[in-house]
Amino acid sequence: MSISASTTNNLDAFWMPFTANRQFKQAPRMFVGAKDMHYTTADGRQVLDGTAGLWCCNAGHSRPRIVEAVQKQVAELDYAPAFQMGHPKAFELAARLAALLPSPLDHVFFTNSGSESVDTALKIALAYQRAIGQGTRTRLIGRERGYHGVGFGGISVGGIVNNRKTFGTMLTGVDHMRHTHDPSRNAFSRGMPEHGAEYAEDLIRIIQLHDPSTIAAVIVEPVAGSTGVILPPKKYLERLRAICDQHGILLIFDEVITGFGRLGSPFATDYFGVTPDLVTTAKGLTSGVIPMGAVFCTKAIYDAFMTGPDHMIELFHGYTYSAHPIACAAALATLDTYDEEGLLTRAADLAQYWEDGLHALKDCPHVIDIRNLGLIGAIELEGIAGEPTKRAFSAFLKAYDDGLLIRTTGDIIALSPPLIISKEQIDELFDKLRTVLNSID
Ligand SMILES: Cc1ncc(COP(=O)(O)O)c(C=O)c1O
Repeated sequence: MSISASTTNNLDAFWMPFTANRQFKQAPRMFVGAKDMHYTTADGRQVLDGTAGLWCCNAGHSRPRIVEAVQKQVAELDYAPAFQMGHPKAFELAARLAALLPSPLDHVFFTNSGSESVDTALKIALAYQRAIGQGTRTRLIGRERGYHGVGFGGISVGGIVNNRKTFGTMLTGVDHMRHTHDPSRNAFSRGMPEHGAEYAEDLIRIIQLHDPSTIAAVIVEPVAGSTGVILPPKKYLERLRAICDQHGILLIFDEVITGFGRLGSPFATDYFGVTPDLVTTAKGLTSGVIPMGAVFCTKAIYDAFMTGPDHMIELFHGYTYSAHPIACAAALATLDTYDEEGLLTRAADLAQYWEDGLHALKDCPHVIDIRNLGLIGAIELEGIAGEPTKRAFSAFLKAYDDGLLIRTTGDIIALSPPLIISKEQIDELFDKLRTVLNSID
């Protein structure tokens, strides 16, 4: 017997991801619609989206151009094999994306998620080093508190303890730099923190320990999101780039959340003026409408693979749904929407207003730090002794009841609204949040 999604009361079968399943199933929070800046709940309430879904709906919800493109595409070409066959929209999309990234990031490999983009980038890095005769370079370096999705590659280079500790030994040959979070010096910084460029020198320690000839790549989020928003100190990323260059190590920026306008420029690589060798993306690529990811690499990396007999596959890697036609159609329409509405740079115009509104919450109860960059915000709360995460989760539940979607990780509230947010909606968001913070224990 089929059960309608809106009437089902059997919540048991679905094992929800990154969710407190038992808590949710006692008091479900269901969205049944979305338009522009709002979700509609099953009980008919409007909820202001303070998180762009999961950092992905950068153009807002149910945007007509994207909806129409997806509808048209599914009726025209539902699927084309991804291996040894092509379809025009894949090439059109790759060319448009390559034009969006600074040169020499000229080539694009399509995936279906951020996690797949990360694993793809790590594999390309390893295979590239081998292709150029540097096959001893097999180590991958990540960073404490880094989040790079949930594949085995991503959790290995990632540095969030709960995402790692129950999953065995993961990849071998991985090491981690220290994170850059330094509240003792940087609490309540506005924008990039002043202190901590020297944390990049931790990479030197790792290089000295393992020898550069063993290290293939370093991966970092230019702005770490899922760990609770950790910003790069001024000059930190430049220093990482210089150290990697000096030692023949590839630098990978995981731009799954920073890509597509979050900081007020198309990518963090533009924002910080630091160009990595590989960039991982997903989320905002299709504004969250259809799963899709993309890995960008330099011409030098791509060219290193284009050797050997013409009929031979150059990279033994790919997904059944790489460059899926419907995802390509969604991405092209998303790029059109971004262009028409100036969304890839809109966060720059709103950043100061956002920063002022966010930091005005400084005097609310329990707040021990506030961080911001572009249209990203974080409010760190003092945890309840012996009950970590509980206070922020209470804030999340109260905000939802009050018509606001926020995201929490640990005792940190993270904010990343769609890039179409108006100043009035920014005011509304922070007003609601003030009420929430004033009412939780
Ligand atoms: C920086 C970063 N990398 C990778 C991922 C994983 O993306 P996905 O959930 O699409 O696999 C995320 C998701 O939040 C992310 O923030």
